[in-house]
Parts: sequence; structure tokens; C-alpha cells
Amino acid sequence: MKVRKAVIPAAGLGTRMLPASKSVPKEMLPMVDKPVLQYIVEEAVAAGIEDILIITNRGKGAMDDYFDYAPELERRLEASGKMAELAAVRRPAELANLYFIRQKETKGLGHAIGQARRFVGDEPFAILLGDDIMRAERPVIGQLIEAAEAYDASVIGVQQVPDEMVSKYGVIKAQPLGNKVFTVTDMQEKPALTEKFSNYAVLGRYVLKPEIFDLLDHQAPGVGGEIQLTDSIKTLCGKNKVLAVDFEGRRYDTGNLRGFLEATIDFALDHPETGEWLKGFLRDKAKEV
Ligand code: UTP
Repeated sequence: MKVRKAVIPAAGLGTRMLPASKSVPKEMLPMVDKPVLQYIVEEAVAAGIEDILIITNRGKGAMDDYFDYAPELERRLEASGKMAELAAVRRPAELANLYFIRQKETKGLGHAIGQARRFVGDEPFAILLGDDIMRAERPVIGQLIEAAEAYDASVIGVQQVPDEMVSKYGVIKAQPLGNKVFTVTDMQEKPALTEKFSNYAVLGRYVLKPEIFDLLDHQAPGVGGEIQLTDSIKTLCGKNKVLAVDFEGRRYDTGNLRGFLEATIDFALDHPETGEWLKGFLRDKAKEV
């Protein structure tokens, strides 16, 4: 089994990032000098994926514009000898084969993934949520793909979260199988703390077999009245091998204000143009507060 395709759902309304996300997709907000979405496309590319479908929505046209050429801008940069800027502007258009489809109604993550059926066909495929950025030595989706290919199974990326966070996530019931790999036996979406299966939460990365599409087609709305991907994966657990990988790396949910700011600071500290300056700035600030 070989994973060659990825789907990035980015059609959500982004209500936790209002009012900024009213007219700018939250996936296009700048993470230092690149939009959030570029980091996610780059993660998929770094894991060897060449064909990527982005699930988009009305009002989010800035996403496909960004991954296109910009001839007038490029001519101007070339004429003024700004070659580094020119390369940075062209790079997004040349990262991968990108495809776009609109989710015409915002009915939830499971419904969004259902839009990918024709693109995916009869192959296993990767899913990377459009607002979850990973900072890791090895691309997180690559860690999942390795396990999916080794075990010929669907794989979910998980990490342990503290008790107070459990009710924000999909949560797994699992048994150890190998090094950081588990067999998933059941799942819950946003459980109450008293009912949680475990503290292992699903954090924005999946590799699924195409059987998921038949389940999504018949999936009834779940938590929040939305078609939940977790509910269909729960059904998949009873029929097929579903594993979880406790992945290495730090995940940032840039779809909420705190996650966005944490990521901005960490990425700016790593960035050659801002890192040293920001360290000094933060030291001075720390003295004031
Ligand atoms: P989120 O719940 O994080 O995104 O969904 P949201 O719905 O945009 O955010 P809030 O809660 O209103 O702030 C997880 C992922 O699923 C996508 C989102 O774009 C995000 O990447 N999604 C969600 C869709 O593509 N379609 C949907 O109908 C819902």
C-alpha cells in the first residue's frame, strides 16, 4: 500500500478567530511570513505527497490565488532585482499539484472529507487539518504514513492531552501494539471528562483507507449537529484495522487565538530574520510584567 494523495479540509467558518476570519480565511493568516496553509502543504510535500486536494468554501478564494503565479508582481520583483522575494512568491505555485473543491454547505469535517471521494478514488489517503500546524523533525504525516504502510491499516495521529482539554477532542480507546503504535478499538467525539476512554486525543492528522467514504455517506449528524469524521472512524474500527500513532512533534491549533499566538512566537523565535530580535524583545517584556 502506498499513500500518494492528501486532502486538506479548510472550509470551516473559523468562528473562534472572528472578526479577523470574517473576510480573510483563518488558513491564510500569516504565521510570521507565510500563511498557515503553506506550512501544511509543505508538511505533506515533505512526506512525499505530490497531489493535494484543498476543501474550500465561498469567500475563501484567497487560498487558491495564493498557490497560483502572480505575473505582474513577479515581473516587478525581477525588474528590481529582488530575486529572493521572487523565489518566495513563486514557491507556493510550484510546491505540488494542488486541486480545489468547494464544500457547498458547512456541515462538518466528515462532510468536508466526503467531498474528496472522486479525487481519492480507490487509494489510501492522508488528511491534514487546515489550521493545525506541526513543528517536528520528521513530518508528522510521514510518521503516520510509515505506520499505515507497515501495517496496511488506517492510522490516526494522537497525543496525550491534560484532563481539562479532553472534551475538546476526539478521543481513542486503544491497546498497545508496537513502539508508539496502538490498535484503536473505539472512539468518542468531545467526551465529558467522566466518560473519557483515555487522554489520547486525535490531533489533526489521519491516513485513511477509501472504505471511509461509504461510511461518511451514511453518517448521521453527531456532536454540534455536524457530520463528524470521528463517528465514521469509530464504525471503521469495528470493520477494519485502525491504528493510532503517538507522533513526535508539537502541534499548534492556529484556529484559536492562544494556539495562534503560541505558534507565532515559536516560529518567530526560529526564524533567521526575527529570532534574535524577538528573544531580546521578550526578555525586556518579561521584566515589565
Ligand atoms: P474546526 O472546528 O477546527 O474549524 O474544524 P472551524 O469549524 O472552521 O472552526 P470554528 O470552530 O468555527 O472556530 C476542523 C477542520 O475541519 C475543517 C476546518 O476548516 C478545519 O480545518 N472543516 C470544518 C471543514 O472543512 N468543513 C466543515 O464543515 C467544518
